[in-house]
Amino acid sequence: MPKRGIILGGNRVAGTMSTVIWFLTGNEGKLAEATHHLAPLDFEVRQLRLPEGTIVEPQLDTLEEVAAAKIEQAKHYLPEGETHIMVEDAGLFVKPLDGFPGVYSSYAFQTIGFQGLLRLLSHLQSEDPVQAASLRSASFQAVVALWDGEKIIFGSGTCPGAISVDPSGDEGFGFDPIFVPLDLDDLGHPLPPGVYGVTSTHGATFGSVPLETKQMFSHRRRALDSLVAEISSQNQDS
Ligand code: IMP
Repeated sequence: MPKRGIILGGNRVAGTMSTVIWFLTGNEGKLAEATHHLAPLDFEVRQLRLPEGTIVEPQLDTLEEVAAAKIEQAKHYLPEGETHIMVEDAGLFVKPLDGFPGVYSSYAFQTIGFQGLLRLLSHLQSEDPVQAASLRSASFQAVVALWDGEKIIFGSGTCPGAISVDPSGDEGFGFDPIFVPLDLDDLGHPLPPGVYGVTSTHGATFGSVPLETKQMFSHRRRALDSLVAEISSQNQDS
């Protein structure tokens, strides 16, 4: 029986598979994305939804530390007999602000919002779009942490880009309306500012492009790719 207070996700996305991963998330889009990546490795991803406030957002220095601390807390809510639990943590790291808001992104978004972030960068402008992109350089970063019953396996992903001067678009969430990703080459690698690639938002923010376009750049997707690679290499070594 699940412990009191748990809302076990009814959302069983994949079919019957050997190992169940309980993914701590309230976001069904993230659940579907994790399932898509982990099902080929014979994992069934199920949602572990806990009542608001059950897991305390720790104030630590890195996304890895935050994810590990959340795993420690969430372990107590694993259904009996289950071993695998996964958490994901992401943030926006702005270079001229020494990485702020970074691990404090949720809090910064709730308090100063993207308008506040734009104000902090208002002195960094240039007529030259390439120079502006360098001055206002930023990246979205994500970490996924999987507890396999014995240890934590990490995956991480980055989406480099820049903070726009003005917000635009109402797609997505969080800081999407002020983030312009760098173009990607045909292997999916980011190109320097001003260099055009096969994958491009043509200077538009994530807030102004459809979700499918954002997915091609996604830090979350890259973090899952890196987790899958890490699991596969550990499986080969053992
Ligand atoms: P989470 O750990 O995925 O919940 O992300 C923490 C915070 O970082 C969110 O509340 C957003 O403010 C910001 N963030 C993370 N990923 C994104 C993204 O893909 N777009 C916009 N904002 C993001």
